[in-house]
This record gives sequence, structure tokens and C-alpha cells, in this order.
Amino acid sequence: MSTINTADHRAILDHTLQKDEARIMTSPNKLKIGVFGPNLSGGTGGLTTLEGPPVMGNWDEARGLAVAADKAGFEALVPITRWKGFNGKSGFWDRSLETFTWAAALAEATENIHIFTSCMVPMVHPVLAAKMGATIDHVAKGRWGLNVVSGWVMEEFRMFGLPEVGRDDRYAYAEEWIDVVTRLWTETEPFDFKGRFFDLEGLVSSPKPMTQPRPTIMNAGMSPAGQAFAMRNADMIFIQIHHDEAAKTIQDLRDAAAAKGREISIWATAHIVCKPTEREAFEYVVKYAEQNTDDTAGQGYAATLLGSDSTSHAKWRADPALVRSLAASGGNMPIVGTPETVVAELARLSELGLDGIALAWVDYDEGVQQFSEELQPLLKDLGLRS
Ligand SMILES: Cc1cc2nc3c(=O)[nH]c(=O)nc-3n(C[C@H](O)[C@H](O)[C@H](O)COP(=O)(O)O)c2cc1C
Repeated sequence: MSTINTADHRAILDHTLQKDEARIMTSPNKLKIGVFGPNLSGGTGGLTTLEGPPVMGNWDEARGLAVAADKAGFEALVPITRWKGFNGKSGFWDRSLETFTWAAALAEATENIHIFTSCMVPMVHPVLAAKMGATIDHVAKGRWGLNVVSGWVMEEFRMFGLPEVGRDDRYAYAEEWIDVVTRLWTETEPFDFKGRFFDLEGLVSSPKPMTQPRPTIMNAGMSPAGQAFAMRNADMIFIQIHHDEAAKTIQDLRDAAAAKGREISIWATAHIVCKPTEREAFEYVVKYAEQNTDDTAGQGYAATLLGSDSTSHAKWRADPALVRSLAASGGNMPIVGTPETVVAELARLSELGLDGIALAWVDYDEGVQQFSEELQPLLKDLGLRS
């Protein structure tokens, strides 16, 4: 059997970076900031037919947004992997840029920001994912990360002809999947892999990622199985939080990590509406989410949530005004107010132990600019960003 002399290749061709040296890990900012959903039409920013906000999902807009966030000092771009939208008037989620190829192109277009690929593991073979990830990590010079998504939208499983399986089996599959990927990234001798889901022979992958021993791994999921997966495999856990439960959710995760002797960064999502006065902020919510709701997309999104077993979305499923809530904040925790009150809430979350937050807005371009010009200086005054 022939072997690839990867170590020699690496010595000649590749620069390397230790995972703990990646800026997403070393950023001096106590509260790190990301953009959530910058790869699809509507982002996750509300389902509105209001004229004005850019639709995104078009390359120039997606690229422009990523470059602006990079220049503004954001730490991360976290895309959403989606295969179909809802055919509503707003186009919410109808166009989504594929998250590996999107990341590869942005790796060239940006300089400092960490670019994640959210990868729905049942749809991407681990040998292909390991190779694509390593390639993007080289283009990005160690600024690439993998967000492992086990999947929950069964309509999308059917698109791929995949069997519909329950959550625990999806995570069991993800566990084997990530084992294959990380071994391909770290082992220099060919190996075989035989598990419940994979029976693979003579596995090799070269080049290794630029980041050693492997790129940053994030996991988005909140069920016991999801959290156990994150504790075993991830550097960052990405969760949905709610104002009234944030303290407990964050503390429980900290305790679970401590029990495993692990340090794990905790990131969450939020949807920001920030106006000069509280009244203007709340009036704007009424305007885009109540008077100009995209009902078709709202009902489609609600039906998807109601038909799923995702723990991350459990609280949304119990919301009697689900369509309106989704229209108001796209399934993220809403933070509505003035620059001062929005920053006060971000500071509270940081105080509770949140390491990072990925943001969504109705208008992403305006949101990134406003964050940079109005919110960042206030966060700086509080010592949360430098
Ligand atoms: C912050 C966050 C981001 C997520 N991003 C995606 C995504 O991009 N695509 C997707 O299909 N699911 C996404 N999910 C869903 C989860 O990956 C997971 O499959 C689902 O929530 C079910 O797992 P759970 O029951 O452990 O929460 C996301 C979940 C969270 C909390």
C-alpha cells in the first residue's frame, strides 16, 4: 500500500498556525461579535415585505456585507445552511449561497474575520468536507471554522433522498462523521473506518488544514445529545437563548463543561432593532413585523418549526403568536431599543458569561454600520470591546 508523505509536503509547502492562536480565540474583546446568516436572502432578520432592506443571497451583496463586517472588526461570519425557502413575497431563505463555496470566496475577500461553514452533516460526505475545509483554511490563512449542524428540516432530508431519522440518531451519525473528518485532518497514515454509518477504506487527506491540530469547531444544538456532542468535539457551542432563561442556559453549559474538565466558548444569536428612541424602535417592529409581514414565509417557517423535534426551537414552538414572533426576529432573541439599552442588554449577557453573539437585523448593511459607529464605542466604554 502506498503512503503519502504528508509531513514532508507540509514542511515544504504549508505555513501552519496553532488553533489557540486563531484570532477568534485570542481576540481581546470580552464580548465577541459575529454576523448570523449573511449568506441567504433575508438573513435571519425578519420576514417582511417592507421596501428597502437588501435581500442578500446575491454575491455582490453578500461579499459587500462580509467585507464591511471584517473592516468593522467583527470576529465571525456564521452562515446558515439551508436548501429551500418558503416562496414568500420577501424571498426569505429562497436564495442561499452554499456555505463551503461562499466561505472559500470570502476567505480571499476578507482579512481578519473568522469565516465559518455551517455544514449539514447528512448532506456532505466527511471525506469531501475534510478536503474542502482544509482547502478553505489555507485560502483563509487559518481563519476558517466548521459549524456542525446535524439537521432538523425533514423536507430537506427528503430532497437528498435521506431517511428521516430522530435527533439522537442524527447526533450518532454526526459523531462518526466528525471522527472521520478530524482523523483525516490529523492522521498522516492511511486508515480504515468502520462504524454504524460508515465503512470506509484507506482514508487519507492532504494537505492538512493550515490550523493545527485542526480548525475551530462549533456545534449548533441544544438537546442533551447536542450538548454532549459539543462537549466531546467542539471549541464553541452556538445556542439560542431567551431573555428570561439566558442566565440558567449559560450557567448550565458552564457547569456541564466544567464537569467534563473542558473549556468551551458559548455563543448565542440575537436580532437587533436599534433606533434613537425606544418609541421609534418599537414602532419600527410594528411596521415591519405586523403591518408588512410576509405571511407565506412566516407560516412556512412556523410549520417547519412546529414539525421538528429540534430542542433549540422548543420555546418558539410554544409561542402562541409564532408567525408574528418569527416575523419580528427571524427565530433569534430580539433586542429592541436605543443604542444605550441595546448595549445594556449585550453587557448583561456578557456578564452572565456569554463569550460571543452573532447578530441579525432587518437590514444587515445598516446593522453592521450602526454597530460599528454607535454600539461599538459604547461597548468599548464598558470594557467589552477594544
Ligand atoms: C444558533 C444555531 C444555529 C443553527 N444553524 C443551523 C443551520 O445553519 N442550518 C440548520 O439546518 N440548522 C441549524 N441549527 C439547528 C441545529 O444545528 C440542530 O440541528 C437543531 O437545532 C436540532 O438539534 P437540537 O435538538 O440539539 O437543538 C442551528 C441551531 C442553532 C441553535
